[in-house]
Amino acid sequence: MRHLMNPLDFTTQELEKLFDLASQIEANPQKFRHVCDGKKLATCFYEPSTRTRLSFESAMYNLGGNVLGFSDAASSSASKGESVSDTIRMISCYADICAIRHPKEGAPMVASSKAGIPVINAGDGGHQHPTQTLTDLLTIRSLKGRLQDFTIGLCGDLKFGRTVHSLINALIRYPNIHFIFISPEELKIPDYIREDVLDKNHIPYQEFIRLEDCMQDLDLLYMTRVQKERFFNEQEYIRLKDFYILDKEKMKLAKKDMLILHPLPRVNEISIEVDEDPRAVYFKQVQYGVYVRMALIMTLLELV
Ligand code: CP
Repeated sequence: MRHLMNPLDFTTQELEKLFDLASQIEANPQKFRHVCDGKKLATCFYEPSTRTRLSFESAMYNLGGNVLGFSDAASSSASKGESVSDTIRMISCYADICAIRHPKEGAPMVASSKAGIPVINAGDGGHQHPTQTLTDLLTIRSLKGRLQDFTIGLCGDLKFGRTVHSLINALIRYPNIHFIFISPEELKIPDYIREDVLDKNHIPYQEFIRLEDCMQDLDLLYMTRVQKERFFNEQEYIRLKDFYILDKEKMKLAKKDMLILHPLPRVNEISIEVDEDPRAVYFKQVQYGVYVRMALIMTLLELV
């Protein structure tokens, strides 16, 4: 039985197979509409979500399966003090596979150690968000035709943004990736990513505070919001929340074929006027998230 806690749980060869399957699903969704007949997905979300929970649910319905779960810890027995370990033992009796989101780093890992079914980390605190990374990689592969040889700018809250941490982890395995980190001083990438992931693997990177100073070099720009829910000090959040606003003027500095990705939700960091720019692919990214989650459910349930 396999779980997905971290993008590195799959080798790059396994990811290629997963992405090939996702592309087959995109090309012919009808072919897959009964693959999960009789199977159930539990979505256990202890933290708010729109995309991740609903795209998992959509993915399972598209495969012919059913869905149960909760979208808020307050409506589950977690509010009475039940542990994640006990909860997953129950869920293992009710469902065939589980996607779990939790504000505490490592909670999905604890769940996987007690589970009788495959567990997927749907985001744990400021740590990892592997299925967003699968979505990001499939989007890049589908729209750029490769997962190597590019300069990617990651912009915004690089300290608390778990999608950023997962994406860096995943991309270092592909050749000739150059990272440019764009953040205010207070929201730089954490030391454990800098030391244990980048330096240890001799991965080149540059850091900038102003987007305008590096925009022209980017093949991909991964924008992120400032993660309000991870701040201890509201004044600090208010001071930093609009540090970056990508608008039409800044887009004039970008390459003609640069792609803008964003895990969403967007707050103010991308002006809505940019949505019409053909380089803005963040809403296409959402659709790739459904295809890749369909492929992931099939893979973890050993239905391929
Ligand atoms: N990208 C993402 O994780 O969005 P949600 O928080 O809405 O699931």
